[in-house]
Amino acid sequence: MTDIQRVLLDENQLAQRVKELGGEISQDYADGDLLLLGILKGSVMFLADLARAITVPVDMDFIAVSSYGTGTSTSGQVRLLKDLEGPIEGRDLLIVEDIIDSGLTLSYLIDVLKSRQPRSIKVVVLLDKPERRKENVVPDYTGFQIPDEFVVGYGLDYAEQYRSLPYVGVLSPSVYIGNE
Ligand code: PRP
Repeated sequence: MTDIQRVLLDENQLAQRVKELGGEISQDYADGDLLLLGILKGSVMFLADLARAITVPVDMDFIAVSSYGTGTSTSGQVRLLKDLEGPIEGRDLLIVEDIIDSGLTLSYLIDVLKSRQPRSIKVVVLLDKPERRKENVVPDYTGFQIPDEFVVGYGLDYAEQYRSLPYVGVLSPSVYIGNE
């Protein structure tokens, strides 16, 4: 806990909001063919909880991209590390992200996925840092808007650590100072 300066969103707040998002999504996709597309690795906790809060049938697939090194800010480069397993043509795609920051990752992914002709593409993000946006990406569903602080936990990492924390916390600058 000493690496965490403070808890930003505790387990109850996360569970409550994820439940609400699941309810909204279930209503909006009542007649859909919903494919949840998780962006590895950060979205794993959120996707697992969100899927259980959605009451309509869902499929899941995963894609991995990399835009960050081990530091705390984006390199601006997006690379596809692992593609989807199945085709998405004609499907209702809901991209599930843990956080949108510059928007570079989502902007790249939306372009790649659109070219595969899904019936629809929407985005759900747990955390949005609007101040940091470089690309104009507006999520369809947002869990929480948060200030520009370095957050970890509930899937989010710093140098592959802290993903398994059950809450979202602000990382102490002493952990990453000199490595930004
Ligand atoms: C993080 C996060 C988003 C992206 C958001 O992924 O999961 O995918 O950065 O930043 P952006 O809006 O500036 O593009 P990361 O590359 O750290 O991989 P991870 O999910 O495996 O932690």
